[in-house]
Amino acid sequence: MPELDSSTLNPPLNPPLTVAITGASGALGQALLRQWHRRGAQLIALSSGDQPLVLADANGEPIPLRQVRWRSGAEAELAELLAEIDLLVLNHGINLHGQRSRGATELSLEVNALSSWRLLELFAEQKMFAEQSGGRPAQRRRPELWVNTSEAEIEPAFSPLYEISKRLLGQLLSLRALDLGKQLCIRRLVLGPFRSALNPVGLMDADFVAGQILWQASLGLKLILVSPNPLVYALMPLTLLGRWLYARLLTRADS
Ligand SMILES: NC(=O)c1ccc[n+]([C@@H]2O[C@H](COP(=O)([O-])OP(=O)(O)OC[C@H]3O[C@@H](n4cnc5c(N)ncnc54)[C@H](OP(=O)(O)O)[C@@H]3O)[C@@H](O)[C@H]2O)c1
Repeated sequence: MPELDSSTLNPPLNPPLTVAITGASGALGQALLRQWHRRGAQLIALSSGDQPLVLADANGEPIPLRQVRWRSGAEAELAELLAEIDLLVLNHGINLHGQRSRGATELSLEVNALSSWRLLELFAEQKMFAEQSGGRPAQRRRPELWVNTSEAEIEPAFSPLYEISKRLLGQLLSLRALDLGKQLCIRRLVLGPFRSALNPVGLMDADFVAGQILWQASLGLKLILVSPNPLVYALMPLTLLGRWLYARLLTRADS
């Protein structure tokens, strides 16, 4: 079952990979779309906003993409679309700095954790259904799911609700990947601070981060780390190993 590797990540892909990215109009969403365009992918921009997304390549040429609106809570409406997608990047997120109200808690959990969890279940369900009803054509690649959690999974982000919601997403991913990892190639993106609306003072540039993500994926890494903090490279694998052992010991596989 072919996965993305250095050859498939170099242009052009044949047949082209269909890549969908949530949080498409954000800094990293746009940077990832540009990177995938350079590799010949067909792009689907999943946006919660109503502004049309217009992207240009390095020569100023418009980047062809299909923009699809979605909203947290209505993930089921994307079921048919998800069936067409080879690679789904769950990248949307919010950071309600300094807030702790009931509404802010609900919104953070919903957007950062629960909507991504629902989308990952729905994507896996669609792929399992496609497999059972006729299978994937030989030339199609194994479906991939990339989940952008954040180094806030294990480090302070100076924003308690952001940390809580990103940790929940990370924990859910660790648990469900035990079963869903058999059908999907799941990659976890653990990123350090980069500049965006969510973090205007981030150290790194979103285009650099997106380039690193695709490069590490091309090496076959399932845990993709891009951070200026060396501790993350030691602590994150240990954390994931601990979670894996704990969940394997205390839970049973999907029947
Ligand atoms: N910046 C950092 O330092 C940093 C570090 C580690 C991880 N991350 C993670 O990287 C991802 C991308 O963040 P970014 O830094 O590129 O931030 P960003 O520029 O603010 O992009 C986030 C995007 O998420 C989408 N979004 C916002 N509210 C939403 C809602 N209520 N429902 C659904 N989607 C919503 C929006 O895109 P649409 O309008 O297209 O939906 C928004 O542009 C996030 O998951 C973030 O947690 C960021």
